Amino acid sequence: MSVETVRLVSTGMWVPSRVLTNADLERMVDTTDEWIVERTGIRERRIAADDVGVVEMGYRAAMQALERAKLEPSAVDAVIVSTATPDRLLPATACDIEAKMGTNGAVAFDIWGACSGWLYALNVARGLILSGQIDTALCIASEKMSAITDWTDRATCVLFGDAAGAAVVQRSDQEGRGILASYMRSDGKLAELLHRRPIGPSSVPVDVAELTVRDGHLRMAGREVFKNAVRSMCESVDAVLEQAGVSKDEVDLLLPHQANIRIIEATAKYAGVPMERVWVNVDRYGNTSSATIPVALREAREQGVVKDGSLVLMVAFGGGLTWGGTLLRW
Ligand code: ACO
Repeated sequence: MSVETVRLVSTGMWVPSRVLTNADLERMVDTTDEWIVERTGIRERRIAADDVGVVEMGYRAAMQALERAKLEPSAVDAVIVSTATPDRLLPATACDIEAKMGTNGAVAFDIWGACSGWLYALNVARGLILSGQIDTALCIASEKMSAITDWTDRATCVLFGDAAGAAVVQRSDQEGRGILASYMRSDGKLAELLHRRPIGPSSVPVDVAELTVRDGHLRMAGREVFKNAVRSMCESVDAVLEQAGVSKDEVDLLLPHQANIRIIEATAKYAGVPMERVWVNVDRYGNTSSATIPVALREAREQGVVKDGSLVLMVAFGGGLTWGGTLLRW
């Protein structure tokens, strides 16, 4: 009897062509390339043009994933989008992407899991597929972090960048392949460590005339986030490996959320995975929130690092706080 599982059929990514280097930032705020590289590992990040929003970015990544899977948009049953930077709050970004793609009435909705959002999306897709409700999902992460970055705050503006990633997810009957374990957690009590001011329509009455662009910017308690990031990603490593009954030394590639090289190194050390088997692109893109993992997966797949049969461990954390992990055998 065949065992049903869920696999990633293909991946896609899109990053803007404009590069913002640490040298550029030196001219904008009181910082140095040396400080940024030493504390974060980031050397440059990509910045989307003003007229390119998350719908456009997510659409491009999604279409690449579909092309690689040799599927038409009409084959998609669910479009699930993770973003913390929507072009608009109503409707969902997923609905706008779904309209642009032209599916055959696929269900479309967003996930608000900050940097963990794409792993959440993957897990929701997995549940929908295994419960027999859908066959094919498109899990997209699209983040225009530059739009919520305070470009006068040196503590945060050096960290973030823009990117989109996507994967086509489908049912499979190849036992031992596909998603082997998923883990998701949150702690809303830690929300203030990483947030935007409550200027949503249902919070304190907003005096629009008094609003400034800075009210929409991200605020972060860097050190506290750092500590919680390491703790929660290590917890996620243990949780998925235990769920799947797999030992740390079997992992072929660790693909952690790309926020800071020191967080990545601490997680890798805990997971017992040498840095040669850890995907790092934070130096080239900075932190692109939930897009970091699908973008890294696309790159690792394209460069032949993720091969058929590779055991890939993905872990993330983000605002909420949220965290989680996914273990998959490609
Ligand atoms: N350039 C130069 N100096 C700076 C800069 C900068 N860009 N930013 C801060 N500093 C200064 C501070 O003012 C401080 O100076 P002081 O000692 O005179 O007060 C000093 O550097 C040390 O500041 P800390 O904030 O303590 O530096 P830390 O070593 O903690 O590094 C950092 C800061 C890089 C932000 C780190 O805390 C971090 O990476 N935290 C996690 C961030 C993260 O992962 N965020 C995203 C998670 S969720 C998501 O992805 C949306």
